[in-house]
Amino acid sequence: MAVTAVAALLAALGGALWLAARRFVGPSVQRLHRGGDSGLMHGKTVLITGANSGLGRATAAELLRLGARVIMGCRDRTRAEEAAGQLRREICQAGGPELGPDSGGAGELVVKELDLASLRSVRSFCQEVLQEEPRLDVLINNAGIFQCPYMKTEDGFEMQFGVNHLGHFLLTNLLLGLLKSSAPSRIVVVTSKLYKYGDINFEDLNSEQNYNKSFCYSRSKLANILFTRELARRLEGTNVTVNVLHPGMVRTNLGRHIHIPLLVKPLFNLVSWAFFKSPLEGAQTSIYLASSPEVEGVSGKYFGDCKEEELLPKAMDESVAGKLWDVSEVMVGILK
Ligand SMILES: NC(=O)c1ccc[n+]([C@@H]2O[C@H](COP(=O)([O-])OP(=O)(O)OC[C@H]3O[C@@H](n4cnc5c(N)ncnc54)[C@H](OP(=O)(O)O)[C@@H]3O)[C@@H](O)[C@H]2O)c1
Ligand SMILES: *[C@@H]1O[C@H](CO)[C@@H](O)[C@H](O)[C@H]1NC(C)=O
Ligand SMILES: *[C@@H]1O[C@H](CO)[C@@H](O)[C@H](O)[C@H]1NC(C)=O
Repeated sequence: MAVTAVAALLAALGGALWLAARRFVGPSVQRLHRGGDSGLMHGKTVLITGANSGLGRATAAELLRLGARVIMGCRDRTRAEEAAGQLRREICQAGGPELGPDSGGAGELVVKELDLASLRSVRSFCQEVLQEEPRLDVLINNAGIFQCPYMKTEDGFEMQFGVNHLGHFLLTNLLLGLLKSSAPSRIVVVTSKLYKYGDINFEDLNSEQNYNKSFCYSRSKLANILFTRELARRLEGTNVTVNVLHPGMVRTNLGRHIHIPLLVKPLFNLVSWAFFKSPLEGAQTSIYLASSPEVEGVSGKYFGDCKEEELLPKAMDESVAGKLWDVSEVMVGILK
């Protein structure tokens, strides 16, 4: 009896130690290349959707530190102003008196309202950006919603397809003129490895016949990749590039719709603490694609951990990508 209890205790201890060791010598930590480079993004304007939380917030913090003017496109002004205030304070503390918004070291933060679940909101957001911003150097389509219960957007689209794909589709199209006139400029799209489990079922894009929340998330993330590849083709010769990335598994608020039983929660927290990336680690590829000279001129590619990766054939299907583009134009009402 006592022997098994001691053995179990030792095993648990060993496991926890192993997890901790993994956490601190794991490969994800080494991927952080911070420091130096401040001023790399000076004079550049970057727009990030969903910049108040998780990966978007970490991406905003770093690009701000590199000197960019960062526009946070967020659906909730209160949450966004709160995040912006925190980011400004962090920058001031990290940089001391010689950094900060007034010195020309760190950049500038601007909050604007953008609800990707409303085409009306996307349109008025873009109108404001086009009126107020003389240039746009980087657009980061980052906002996302994950495995929510069945819901529809203001315009009647299934929520995950509507926010993750269609809202960003309209946003990007409306800002394309400004991106072209600011060239060389970049578009960065955040997808997920889970795209593998999706398909573009053109006969039921709003999932009215049957709703599977995992399938719909995967479908929206496959759409992000097909969109990137079709757009890269359309942008050839313009000096506007577009690339797509997966961040890996990251501790963010993305799982808000997933209910984990109370008893399992501590175990889940331990596992996510050991195996998931921090938001700043997860944001490295977004930051890289938005700012690194290494990817100047590179377009239509899929990245993970700041390196190009291979896609499954279904994500490279040009005819599906072309058809999705046409159908999306009709759905958001920009058919010329
Ligand atoms: N975390 C991961 O492990 C992981 C893995 C693969 C891919 N990703 C992708 O990474 C991206 C960022 O997610 P995250 O992990 O950072 O999650 P997060 O912390 O939940 O952040 C998502 C952001 O998207 C915003 N958003 C949601 N619906 C919106 C809408 N209708 N209009 C405007 N903004 C909206 C959220 O705003 P509110 O705060 O107001 O809700 C939030 O700012 C997503 O595209 C996700 O698919 C994440
Ligand atoms: C829902 O979709 C996922 C991913 O496509 C699939 O693995 C799963 O079997 C589906 N669930 C049901 C109940 O059909
Ligand atoms: C793209 O950039 C190259 C090199 O800077 C320049 O020569 C070319 O004119 C640019 N093309 C367009 C369409 O802006």
